[in-house]
Amino acid sequence: MIKKIINVATLFVALISSVFAFEMNMNTLYLTENRLNSMVSSMLDSYGMNYDIVQLPAKSLVLEKDNVALYNSIVIENAKQETLSGIKAQIEEYSKKYKIRIAYLNSEPDQSVAANSQQSIFMRNVVLTDQGYELASKYQMNGKDVQFTVGTCILDTNFQCIQYTHYEVDPIIKDSIKPLLKYTDIEAYAGALVNSNGIESIHFWIPFIDSHIAYFASHLWISYINYGLIDGYRRLFFEIQVDDYFTDNCFNSSDCSATPDAPHYRTSVEDMENIAKWQKDISSRMPKGSDFKVELAINGIHILTKAQHKQYEIRNWTDYLFPYEYKKPLNEHGSSRWPEKFDDDWDDKILQDDKLYKHFKNHDNQDNFFWLTHTFSHQKLDYASYRDTDLESKENIKMSKEPYLGMYDRDCYSKHSIVTPEISGLHNGDALKALTDNEVYYAVGDTSRVDVSPENFYLPFITNMTTSNFDGFVVIPRQPPQVYWDCSTIEENMEVYKMRYPDRTNVTWEQHLNEEADLHAKNFLKLRHDPYMFHEGNLRNSDFKEVSIGSGKGKYGMLQQWVERVTEEIQKYMNWPLVSIKMDNLAQTYLTRISKEQCKPKYTMVVDDSSFKISEIKVKATTGECKVPLLAIKNTEFDKSTVDSIEKLGMDPQTAWINVNDKSVKSVKFTSSVQWNDDSYTAKSGSIIAYSISSLKILLLVGIATLFIMH
Ligand SMILES: *[C@@H]1O[C@H](CO)[C@@H](O)[C@H](O)[C@H]1NC(C)=O
Ligand SMILES: *[C@@H]1O[C@H](CO)[C@@H](O)[C@H](O)[C@H]1NC(C)=O
Ligand SMILES: *[C@@H]1O[C@H](CO)[C@@H](O)[C@H](O)[C@H]1NC(C)=O
Ligand SMILES: *[C@@H]1O[C@H](CO)[C@@H](O)[C@H](O)[C@H]1NC(C)=O
Repeated sequence: MIKKIINVATLFVALISSVFAFEMNMNTLYLTENRLNSMVSSMLDSYGMNYDIVQLPAKSLVLEKDNVALYNSIVIENAKQETLSGIKAQIEEYSKKYKIRIAYLNSEPDQSVAANSQQSIFMRNVVLTDQGYELASKYQMNGKDVQFTVGTCILDTNFQCIQYTHYEVDPIIKDSIKPLLKYTDIEAYAGALVNSNGIESIHFWIPFIDSHIAYFASHLWISYINYGLIDGYRRLFFEIQVDDYFTDNCFNSSDCSATPDAPHYRTSVEDMENIAKWQKDISSRMPKGSDFKVELAINGIHILTKAQHKQYEIRNWTDYLFPYEYKKPLNEHGSSRWPEKFDDDWDDKILQDDKLYKHFKNHDNQDNFFWLTHTFSHQKLDYASYRDTDLESKENIKMSKEPYLGMYDRDCYSKHSIVTPEISGLHNGDALKALTDNEVYYAVGDTSRVDVSPENFYLPFITNMTTSNFDGFVVIPRQPPQVYWDCSTIEENMEVYKMRYPDRTNVTWEQHLNEEADLHAKNFLKLRHDPYMFHEGNLRNSDFKEVSIGSGKGKYGMLQQWVERVTEEIQKYMNWPLVSIKMDNLAQTYLTRISKEQCKPKYTMVVDDSSFKISEIKVKATTGECKVPLLAIKNTEFDKSTVDSIEKLGMDPQTAWINVNDKSVKSVKFTSSVQWNDDSYTAKSGSIIAYSISSLKILLLVGIATLFIMH
C-alpha cells in the first residue's frame, strides 16, 4: 500500500515538472569567424567549462533538442553583422525564450548600439568606466584606474606582426546601454552592457588576443553571460618553490671548489626566521582568505658538508650532457656515480653542528614551510641508472625522516613529489621507475622547455613510452622567473641579466621587477596554477636594505621583493585570495582536472518556465567517474547534503565539488530559491570547507527502508 502511494506521488511530481519546467544544459556556444591567436577558448578552459565551437558563417544552429535547451550562454567573436545575418533571428529568439545572455567580442557593433564606429589599428589604452568597475567589483575584481593596453599585434613564427584591429565606438547614450570600457585618448568606447529588445548582452570591441585586458575582460563576460553560475573552478594558487635548499652556492661558477674566492651564500637561520614572519605578514595584506607559504626543495648532502660529517662518501661528480629531449635507452645501464659501499650511518649530534639543520628539526620551524625532495646530491637524472636514482631518493628520504630532520611523515612534506635537478630525468624510464618505487609520482617541468610542457597548461604533461620509456609519471608546468639560481644579491642578479640581455644594460632592478610583475600577473589573470622556480640564495635577506614595495616595507631579499611586487600587481586586477598549497596537493588539483576532462561531465539545470527558478542542477559523467566543480556567484548557498564538499575562502563565492559517475545522476540544490536570470550578488566574508552529510543520510534512509520491508 505504501509503495503504491509513493508511485502515484512520484508520477504526479513528474507530471508537474514536465509541464512547468524546462531543462537547459550548462554549456557555452562559442561562435567565431576567426580564431587565429584568440585566447577565448583558453579562458573557457581556465575555468574548465564545457563549450562547443561553431565556425562562422553558419546557416543555422542546433540550439534545442528533445526539449532541452542545449546552451546556457553564447559568445560571438570576430563577427561582422553580415556574417551573422543568417542566424541572428534564430539566436535572438532562443535568447528571449530562455533568457540567454550573449557576449560579443571584437564583433562589428549593431546599429542599435553604435551611433558611429570605426575600426582602427592604433595603439590605444582603455580604462574601466564607473559601471565597468562596478561590474568588476561584483566578481571580486579590481581594475580601478588601470590603463590597459589594447592588443594590436601578435608575432608570427617569422617574427612578423599579424595586425589586429579594434572598434572605436560612439554608443547611443540611453538607459539600456552602460559603457564598461573607454579609450583614454579619444572620445570613444571599447565595451558596454546592452539591454535591448528583451536581450541582455555584453560587448567588448577589442581583440581577444594575448593582452592583460583580454584576460581581465574574459572574467567579466564569462561571469556575466552565465549569470554567475559557472560549470568550472576559479582559484589562484601562489606557489613559490626554492630549489637546492641547504646548499651553499657560489656566484657565476658551477664548481665552487674550483673557485674558492667566488662570492657564495647559504641562508642563515635569521634569514629563514625573517621569511617565516614575513609570510604571515604578507598573507594578512593579501585579499581575505589568502595564505602564502614557500616550499623548499632539499638536497640533504649539504647538511653533511656543513657539518663536515661523512660528506666524502659520495665524491663522484661525473656529469653527462645531453639535449633536453634525450631518452636514455632502457637497455643501457646509465651512470654509476654511487659507490658500491658507503657509510650513511650519520650521527645526528654531529649534524647539529649545522645550525640550519638544527633549526629545522623543530616542528614549529618546519611548519613555517612546505618541503619536498630535490634528490640527495643534485645528480642530474637524464643518464642516471635505476640504482643511482634510487639512492638519490632513498638517502634524501632518510635525511628527511627521524632521527634526522624528522619531517618526512609530517603534513608539511610532499612525499609524492620531486623537483628533479635541472628538471632532468623526465625522459629516463629507469629514473622514473626508481622514483615511483620510492612513492614519488609527480615532478615539475619548465615552461621554457617544450619537451616537458603540456599542450594545454591547465592539464599536466603525463609521460608515456614514447616520451620517456615510462607510462604515467605526472609533470606539472613550472615558470622560471628572472631571479637567477646562483644569485643572492640584486647586484649579482642584474649582472647576470645584463650578460643575458646585452642590449638592456641600463635596466634597473626596479624596472626589472616591474617587467616581471607585468608578465607574471598575466599568468594569474589566466588562472594558471604553475609554481615559480627560485633557488636557495634568492632567500637571502638579513643583510638587505629596507625597501617599500606595494603595501610591504622591510628588509626584503630578492625572492620577497619579487613576491611583494607580483602580489601588488595581481591586486591591481583581482581581489581573489592567493593560496599556497604543498606540491602533493597541487598535483592532486591537476589530476582532478584531467580526470574531469576524461569523464566529460554534463550539467543540466531544471528551470521553472514561468518563474525561471532553478529547482536543481543534474550532474552526470559521460564515462567513468570524477570530481567536478560548480561555482555560484549568486545570492544563495549550496544545500550541502546534495554535494560532496563546499569550498569558500574569504570573499569568494561558493564552489561545490560533486563526485559524479556515468551510472546515476546527482541532483544539486540550493538552500534558498534561486532564479536563473537573476545575477544580483553581494559577496560575504567567511571561509568554509564543508563536507556533505549525504552519505550519512543515505545510510539512515537505507536503515528505515529495511525496517519497512521487514514489516
Ligand atoms: C664515476 O661515475 C661515472 C659515471 O657514472 C662512472 O663511469 C665511473 O666509473 C665512476 N667512478 C668511480 C671511481 O666509481
Ligand atoms: C605520448 O605523449 C605525447 C606527448 O604528450 C603524445 O603526443 C603522444 O600521443 C603520446 N603517445 C601515446 C602512445 O600515448
Ligand atoms: C662569469 O664568469 C665568466 C668566466 O668564467 C666571466 O667571463 C663573466 O664575466 C662572469 N660573469 C659575471 C656576471 O661576473
Ligand atoms: C635605455 O637605453 C635605451 C637605448 O639604449 C633607451 O631607449 C631607454 O630609454 C633607456 N632606458 C632608460 C631607463 O634609461
